[in-house]
Amino acid sequence: MKLLVTGGAGFIGSNFILYWLKQYPNDSIVNLDLLTYAGNLENLISVENNPNYEFVHGDICNSQLVNSLTRNIDIIVHFAAESHVDRSIQNASPFIQTNIVGTYTLLEAALKNKVKRFHHISTDEVFGALELNSQDKFHLDSPYNPHSPYSASKASSDHLVRAYGTTYNLPYTISNCSNNFGPYQFPEKFISLVITNVLENKYIPIYGDGLYVRDWLYVEDHCEAIDVILHKGKVGSTYLVGGLTKDISNIEVIYQILDEMKKDKTLIHFVKDRPGHDRRYAIDWSQTTSELEWKPKHSFADALQKTILWYKNNQEWWKRIKTGAYLNYYKQQYG
Ligand code: NAD
Ligand code: TYD
Repeated sequence: MKLLVTGGAGFIGSNFILYWLKQYPNDSIVNLDLLTYAGNLENLISVENNPNYEFVHGDICNSQLVNSLTRNIDIIVHFAAESHVDRSIQNASPFIQTNIVGTYTLLEAALKNKVKRFHHISTDEVFGALELNSQDKFHLDSPYNPHSPYSASKASSDHLVRAYGTTYNLPYTISNCSNNFGPYQFPEKFISLVITNVLENKYIPIYGDGLYVRDWLYVEDHCEAIDVILHKGKVGSTYLVGGLTKDISNIEVIYQILDEMKKDKTLIHFVKDRPGHDRRYAIDWSQTTSELEWKPKHSFADALQKTILWYKNNQEWWKRIKTGAYLNYYKQQYG
């Protein structure tokens, strides 16, 4: 089988490529990535000489390129996106371009070249926010109600994928997953930022009252879910993928990290809240479990421990990032 993976130099995409080539060594993968600030080929050093792996530097909005790469491809797994909410608040433009126009460009190419499956990676953030302390969860029939430019652009892309399925019979699947964490996550996202800041003895910025809730999914469990959806998922279906069954607030996540890293709480700094900050995410993935027999293998505590160890053992990887262009963004965001 031949896969076109978009955004494969990013956090989840690179974990997916490493996972897939280990799991299915006879398959081949073309990785199309623009190498924005979030793309890092160092994540893929272990496979760069694998004859079944090819990297193409380019933009998913480039229809000519995307069209030529899609010929002879069986499956597209579409990760490429601008993915950070805070950046979308600073400047929505690349989010509209990549997440909406880029997805449209890929859909056109998929249709033209008759790919057997278009799998679109999306987010639970398209459903908006839930009340704190409620038992509510996002379900497959939850209405779309995105609040940030990021989630609105992802919602648009989901609608486009479904429209291509309904109108042109494009064989698609979609997964809406919760917040991922694990190795190779760019240290601007919450858990990777907290761990690397603790390792550098820098303050930990926590937004607002710190009582916001996210559902946390270990990236390896997410890769397994995509694998199962590609092999057993029904064309035209959407699958919800999450990691937790019990709410955990951001401040509790920080306490767990500090506890595991044997540091006290003095590093914690409450900072100005994010505008339009979604209060709570919780996702019900029971249908994915009953239909596809998938569920996350890692508990939050085990996955967090593994993740902390990875950042401890791979300081060169994130230190190179933190001393680069990231610094300008960091200054703008936190002052
Ligand atoms: P990431 O920001 O780490 O990586 C995105 C990758 O896409 C980068 O390698 C970047 O260079 C590439 N890219 C950006 N614009 C491109 C373009 N125009 N053409 C080609 N490549 C381009 O993102 P991630 O965290 O790995 O997320 C991957 C996907 O999963 C995204 O679609 C995101 O919306 C979705 N998702 C992520 C999370 C999460 O917690 N990280 C949760 C839910 C859904
Ligand atoms: P983030 O990793 O940006 O993911 P998302 O906004 O897509 O859920 O943030 C996760 C949670 O952590 C969210 O409630 C915002 C909060 N957060 C902080 O408190 N401080 C920070 O510096 C960041 C980046 C996030």
